[in-house]
Amino acid sequence: MPLVNTIELFKKAYEGGYAIGAFNCNNMEIVQAITEAAKECNSPVILQVSAGARKYAKACYLKHMVEAAVEDTGLPIVLHLDHGADFEICKDCIDGGFTSVMIDASSKSFEENIALTRKVVEYAHDTSKHPYVTVEAELGTLAGIEDDVKVEHGAESYTRPEDVEEFVKRTGCDSLAIAIGTSHGAYKFKPQQCTRDPKTGVLLPPPLRFDILEEVSKRLPGFPIVLHGSSSVNQEYVKIINAHGGKLVDAVGVPEEQLRKAASMAVCKINIDSDLRLALTAGIREHFDEHPDHFDPRQYIGDGRKYVKDIVKHKIQTVLGSENKL
Ligand code: G3H
Ligand code: 13P
Ligand code: ZN
Repeated sequence: MPLVNTIELFKKAYEGGYAIGAFNCNNMEIVQAITEAAKECNSPVILQVSAGARKYAKACYLKHMVEAAVEDTGLPIVLHLDHGADFEICKDCIDGGFTSVMIDASSKSFEENIALTRKVVEYAHDTSKHPYVTVEAELGTLAGIEDDVKVEHGAESYTRPEDVEEFVKRTGCDSLAIAIGTSHGAYKFKPQQCTRDPKTGVLLPPPLRFDILEEVSKRLPGFPIVLHGSSSVNQEYVKIINAHGGKLVDAVGVPEEQLRKAASMAVCKINIDSDLRLALTAGIREHFDEHPDHFDPRQYIGDGRKYVKDIVKHKIQTVLGSENKL
């Protein structure tokens, strides 16, 4: 099974009322943890690579590691560029064998976003040079940090449903990321935006804007929608990190039930990075605390990898609903 684009996977996900997990990867252990979990759950999966990941690991290493995962698992895996900031990075990934790219021109004006997205779509869909590569675009902005772009809480802008038909028609994009209240990172909401659970002290965030999602999907029937910034910041891992020397105060994510609801609607791709970082860190911190004499990376990174695999399985089974959907 070679790498695949998102067309068939999204069609089945839309019709089946589930979403496909798009997990960020930066190294071999993360690639292995994600794909072994997907294999054991018999689930389709998207591996995505950011500009930062390309800089850290080098694009060719990531590409070959993902190809190794395809060989190892036999899964239909999508290799996707996350948050492509310009035409050049999208072209580079398309030429290098990625099967899907995101052009993120969401911080530009509506017309500039359309023009840049259209340019990427024309190149990605031109099958005279390479297989058909699917293109994700974005309308609306999320709070949080995406590489060099930092959007403060309060400065984010929800997607305007009245824009989506024109945008999709004029760009020809294959899927659309929208802003309905999710945000990047492990601190998605300020404490003053949340209420606090009186028993546990854990922050309870405000609900996502399902009204916007509903309106968007009414205007784009059958069209796959993407949610970024969709880590849930599972408190189990935050506790492990803090119990072993970490200091994550008031880290909060999107509640899992809300993501499950989105996945049963038009959302076909849910992006998760921070939860994997937390799981990896929890495993490594716990390992060092329990075995201060260890210095073999296979021992401590191996424990981190185990926790990443656990969280990916949990997402597939209880949040995304993509188990046994191959
Ligand atoms: O959306 C951002 C992803 O979490 C990637 O983060 O740019 O630090 O690799 P990164
Ligand atoms: P999180 O920070 O919520 O994991 O979001 C990841 C993401 O959107 C990657 O594009
Ligand atoms: Zn994102």
